Amino acid sequence: MNILGIDTSCDDTSAGIIADGRLVLSNVVHSQIRIHSPYGGVVPELASREHLRNIMPVVREALLRAHLEFPDLDAVSVTVGPGLVGSLLVGLYYAKAIAYTHGIPMIGVNHLEGHILSIFLEETSPSFPFIALTVSGGHTSLYHVTGYGQYTQLGQTLDDAAGEAFDKVSKILGLGYPGGVAIERQALSGCKDRINFPRVYLSNDSLNFSFSGLKTAVALYIKKWREDGIENNNITQADIAASFQESVVDVLVRKVMMARDKTGISTIVIAGGVACNRALRERLFREAEAHDLRVYIPSPQYCTDNGAMIALAGYQRYLAGEFADLATDVRSKYPIKDLPLIEAC
Ligand code: KG4
Ligand code: ZN
Repeated sequence: MNILGIDTSCDDTSAGIIADGRLVLSNVVHSQIRIHSPYGGVVPELASREHLRNIMPVVREALLRAHLEFPDLDAVSVTVGPGLVGSLLVGLYYAKAIAYTHGIPMIGVNHLEGHILSIFLEETSPSFPFIALTVSGGHTSLYHVTGYGQYTQLGQTLDDAAGEAFDKVSKILGLGYPGGVAIERQALSGCKDRINFPRVYLSNDSLNFSFSGLKTAVALYIKKWREDGIENNNITQADIAASFQESVVDVLVRKVMMARDKTGISTIVIAGGVACNRALRERLFREAEAHDLRVYIPSPQYCTDNGAMIALAGYQRYLAGEFADLATDVRSKYPIKDLPLIEAC
C-alpha cells in the first residue's frame, strides 16, 4: 500500500511516499531558504507563492524517485495544521485535487503528530510508551505517547519555541537564516562556558518551557558587547553562539530528565528541526548512557519538515478509518489535544 504525504506547513515544500506504513520510497524537500534569507525569517506571502510554484514538481519528483505513477497511490495524506494558513492551503488543495481526480482517500494530518511519529521512518524505532520532545521553529513540547494517536501533552513553551530562539539570536548576530544551523556552526569554534546565559526552568516541577527571557538576555549582551567594541573584548561571536546553544541544551535536557522522573518512562524520542543540533544530540546520548535511558532521534532529514512523516502519520489514521473530505479546511492552530484518539488494537 503506497501513501503520498504532503507537507507545506511552513517554508519547505515536501512530498514523501511510503509503502506499507513505514518503508520510505522517496522523500523530496524543496527548501525556500534562498527566498527568505534576505528577510531574516519566513515571509508568509512569499512562502505560499513558492509552494504554489513548487508543489507539482516536488510531488512529481517524489513519484519519479519511488518509480510510481499517480494510479499506484492508495491514499494521499496532507498536513492540515498547525502552520501558516496560506502555505497549508496550497498543500491541502493539491491533495484534494489528487484525491478527487484519482479517486483515492485523503487523510488530514496534524503536523506535530508527524514529528512525533517521524522516528518510525527509521530502521530502529522505539516501542510504546515513550516521551517525545518536539523542538522546532514553531513548537517546543513534551508528550507522553502511549500508542499511535495517543498523546498527552506534559508541557509546552509559554512563549518562543527553541528553534525560534536560535533563529532570533542568529539574526541579531548577523549570522543569517535559518539560525539553528548557523549558530551550531559558529558554536563549534566557541567556548560554551564563557558566558553564563540564563536557564529558565520555571517552577521546580514544571515541564513547560520559556525561551523569550534567554533571547532578550542574549540580545542585551550582544548590544553591550558591540558598544564595548568587539576588538577590545576577548569574547568572540563564537563564544556567544556556543554559550547560548549550551543554555538551550541545558534546559531541554533537564526537562526531558524531569519528564522521565515524573512518568517513570525511560524511552525518549526527540524530533523537529532543533533535534538536528549536534550539541543536543551528543548531550542526550551521554545522558542516556549515564542514566539508563533509551534515546531515539531521527536522522536530520526526518527531523526537519518532510512529507514522509506525514505519510506515516496518515497511514495510522487510514488504518483507523479517519478520512478527510473535500470540505476539509486548514487549521493555523491545531493543538494535539484536538486530535481524535486512535484506540489501541
Ligand atoms: O521542524 P522544522 O523544520 O520546522 C518547523 O516545524 O518549525 O524546524 C525548523 C527549526 C528552525 O527554527 C531552525 O533554526 C531549527 O529548526 N534548526 C536547528 C538546527 N537545524 C534546524 N536548530 C538548532 N540546531 C540545528 N542544527
Ligand atoms: Zn515542523
